[in-house]
Amino acid sequence: MSDDTATDNPGCISWYPTGLIDTLTLRGGRRVLVRPILPQDDRLLAAMVNRASPAVRRLRFPSMVPGAWQPATAEQFRQLSCVDHRRHVALVATTLEGGVEMLVGEARFQIEGSSDTAEFVLMVDEEWQRQGIAGALMRNLSKAACDVGVNWLRAEVMAVNEAMLGMMERYRFCCTADEVDPRIVHVETRSRALTARRAPTSPGFLEWMQRWLTTPQFVNRY
Ligand SMILES: CC(C)(COP(=O)(O)OP(=O)(O)OC[C@H]1O[C@@H](n2cnc3c(N)ncnc32)[C@H](O)[C@@H]1OP(=O)(O)O)[C@@H](O)C(=O)NCCC(=O)NCCS
Repeated sequence: MSDDTATDNPGCISWYPTGLIDTLTLRGGRRVLVRPILPQDDRLLAAMVNRASPAVRRLRFPSMVPGAWQPATAEQFRQLSCVDHRRHVALVATTLEGGVEMLVGEARFQIEGSSDTAEFVLMVDEEWQRQGIAGALMRNLSKAACDVGVNWLRAEVMAVNEAMLGMMERYRFCCTADEVDPRIVHVETRSRALTARRAPTSPGFLEWMQRWLTTPQFVNRY
């Protein structure tokens, strides 16, 4: 997906989809807010991207020349934060750390041309991974896609990106190796398939249930 959003609304938002605001309790009990991005999030987005490791930045911005990451300019982050919420939808996951808001995840899609298909991309802060943030962002992103008439969500994923491909498999995306470039895997799903599906039950939850069912309180009572 192109990160060049120069055609987006340059300074203000005319529409903010409040129906996409959600709270999420993570596996460890911490809470994050998932909400559509705001123009004033540009600095928080820059902070999240710039504190990520080079490996994660390359996966999030594959068009960057490997090893040659230059921090994106303030103008680029402004463009990424100032979206129209119709053809270009971006969601962020935020948390309050010591009373200061911090961005820990980002997901977006952009419709290309007049098709009912959009390209998506997402990223979660390394310290916050494996807690369900990407799954929650993806479910809300697919809800947004359905709301604006996008039937298909697709992305190009690097074949070495085990985390992303693991997630695509978990959410039953169709994954196809590129016919020409073996470094690329095309992933695709119907938007409504994700909104219809409940969050996959994590092995951790099943283990917790098994433990709970065998506790003396439960066994003695039933
Ligand atoms: C891919 C990415 C977004 C996943 O974020 P996340 O918040 O850790 O994902 P979740 O916690 O919601 O995990 C959802 C499922 O994805 C799969 N998954 C996530 N990380 C995984 C990993 N490192 N290895 C294998 N599977 C993984 C698992 O099935 C997981 O479910 P589980 O934890 O119940 O087993 C994150 O690793 C990331 O930001 N990577 C760098 C940027 C990137 O690659 N972006 C994609 C560009 S298209």
